[in-house]
Amino acid sequence: MAVTDTTQAPVFALDQVPLDRIAAAEGTPCYVYSAPVVRQRLAALRQAFEACDWPYALHYALKANSSLAVASLIREGGADADANSVGEIALARRAGFRPDQIVFTGVGKSPAELAEAVSLDLKAINAESAGELDRLDALARAQGRRVRVALRVNPDVDAQTHAHITTGLKTSKFGVPLDDAAALLRERRDAAGLEVIGLHVHVGSQITSLGPLCAAARKVADLAVSLRAEGFPLSHLDLGGGLGIVYERGADVPTYEAFAQALVDVARPTGFTLIVEPGRTLVGPAGVLLARVIDTKPCAGGGRFVVLDAGMTELMRPALYGAFHRIVPVHATDRPLVPCHVVGPVCESSDTFGRVRDLPEPAVGDLMAIMDAGAYGAVMSNTYNRRPLPPELLAEADGSWRVIRRRQTIDDMLALEHA
Ligand code: LLP
Repeated sequence: MAVTDTTQAPVFALDQVPLDRIAAAEGTPCYVYSAPVVRQRLAALRQAFEACDWPYALHYALKANSSLAVASLIREGGADADANSVGEIALARRAGFRPDQIVFTGVGKSPAELAEAVSLDLKAINAESAGELDRLDALARAQGRRVRVALRVNPDVDAQTHAHITTGLKTSKFGVPLDDAAALLRERRDAAGLEVIGLHVHVGSQITSLGPLCAAARKVADLAVSLRAEGFPLSHLDLGGGLGIVYERGADVPTYEAFAQALVDVARPTGFTLIVEPGRTLVGPAGVLLARVIDTKPCAGGGRFVVLDAGMTELMRPALYGAFHRIVPVHATDRPLVPCHVVGPVCESSDTFGRVRDLPEPAVGDLMAIMDAGAYGAVMSNTYNRRPLPPELLAEADGSWRVIRRRQTIDDMLALEHA
């Protein structure tokens, strides 16, 4: 079954990856990523920006999927990295990213994280508050250096996405209010440890229209132009991530061409270089969570419960955001369609992947693919109910695959504990 979306960029195709053989060999639940899909999506996004003929850098948001092999794949595809913790910085470095290819974002950076980031001489640290600017200044001076900083501004723009992943409203915890940014920087004009090289903004994730992205970009661009006129030597606009993907058939998201063009149209008249931090769009459609049906039973309220061996522990998005993921039987059958409530085995009613999904009457042992799980899937998995973390597998176009993270064992899980 080949699935296309309206971005015209490739998405996971079930018939190109031998999910049944993978499940037989590796067990379920497991994550399976398609390496060619990741490569093709990154190449398509780069091509869209190249076509605009404006200096840009793609910093992959590692938080979407920071498996070492996936991060390496992205680096080999020519992108740089956006890290959100020293853990992600360490991961990025192991994946081969140089410090000058890494930007460091994060609403709360601990003193140890700031000290390490300063000493690594990263491409830029995206500072989130006046206090953080001062801490960076002090650390840099103590280390006898200047730290490159971009100030994250909060533009008060509604990303029109789920409230939990909206970050650019004035009530959001992220960045400094747009109206305060200039004063904050003026007060620190003589800070010897700071080299303010840009402004940063990120208004949310799974954004499905260009309006909010452009509105935020324009506000930040205008501010950057006026700061440059005051003598601040800014050189880049970091416009964050946020481009959505098609989770549900019939939904629409901007094409890469339209996305790139819209951001470059904002940047070009200013002369500022562009940074973008895409996460989900590069890896989301490239992954599935593969699970087996372990029970079925009627629901007194109508329909059937279909219990999978994967749950909110493996993929938290439906429980946390009410997120929709298509659920596709791996083997086609001619069984009649029945309304199903596809649930996991965890002791929470929110452990539900989908309600009232019409599926060919599932039977115990059937394999199901939960689609578009390559972003914010494995990275958000946990061991609630003492469920081991699932393995992650990377498949190639020739049908081969390799384990890029093995399944956690109970011994792994207990290795950190003392009775
Ligand atoms: N840059 C910054 C500063 C971010 O906070 C994020 C995502 C990104 C870039 C990448 O955004 P993307 O291109 O992936 O939309 N767990 C949620 C998503 C949280 C996004 C957090 N920040 C989910 O499963 O939908």
